[in-house]
Amino acid sequence: MTHARAASPLASSPPVLGVLISGRGSNLQAIIRAIGDGRLAARIGIVIANRPDAGGLEHARAAGIPTAVIDHKAFGSRAAFEEALVARLTEAGVAVICLAGFMRILSPFFLERAPGPVLNVHPSLLPSFPGVDAQGQAWSHGVKVAGATVHLVTPELDAGPIIAQATVPVHDADTAESLAARILVEEHRLYPDAIARVLTCRWHIDGRRFVCE
Ligand code: GRF
Repeated sequence: MTHARAASPLASSPPVLGVLISGRGSNLQAIIRAIGDGRLAARIGIVIANRPDAGGLEHARAAGIPTAVIDHKAFGSRAAFEEALVARLTEAGVAVICLAGFMRILSPFFLERAPGPVLNVHPSLLPSFPGVDAQGQAWSHGVKVAGATVHLVTPELDAGPIIAQATVPVHDADTAESLAARILVEEHRLYPDAIARVLTCRWHIDGRRFVCE
């Protein structure tokens, strides 16, 4: 099925992003920077962490962005946790949800109720190396080119339509850590650009291809 979604050209205020994190939040920082630099015409309406100790919460607070902690451990079921996420995102007027190191799998329950498309950044050239420690998987596999992917989130883990990708070389002297660091630099450039693309172009899904008109 083909369907379309686009930012309204009549919108007078920038589209609102909701960013979901679990950890250090360097991709969140990259999004904040891109908005500050005028490379991404958007506003972050809410940063939600599922862990109270997520370091990224401090970056959000320092930038004056509203934050919320919705701890999955405090809920009796995945649906109840996801319902709380949807409620907070909706209340913040969010139009696009950006996962930035969010370490919870989101079920169809969430995806069907989310107030907009859900994006994720993953540190490999999908469909290679989905799941955890993608950079370590790529390094031990011995690939010579690695990279990062921004994709739409679907119920299948790291398997949604690809919005954008960036490559990096893998050097013989690399460790999994040095490769991860090289990929992270590209993630920080790629993610804000891909969000901007989703916000500004008329796009549709053709089969499993993300097509920007
Ligand atoms: C990034 O490598 C991202 O690709 C992956 O989780 C990591 C999050 O890092 N999904 P940070 O919290 O954005 O620094």
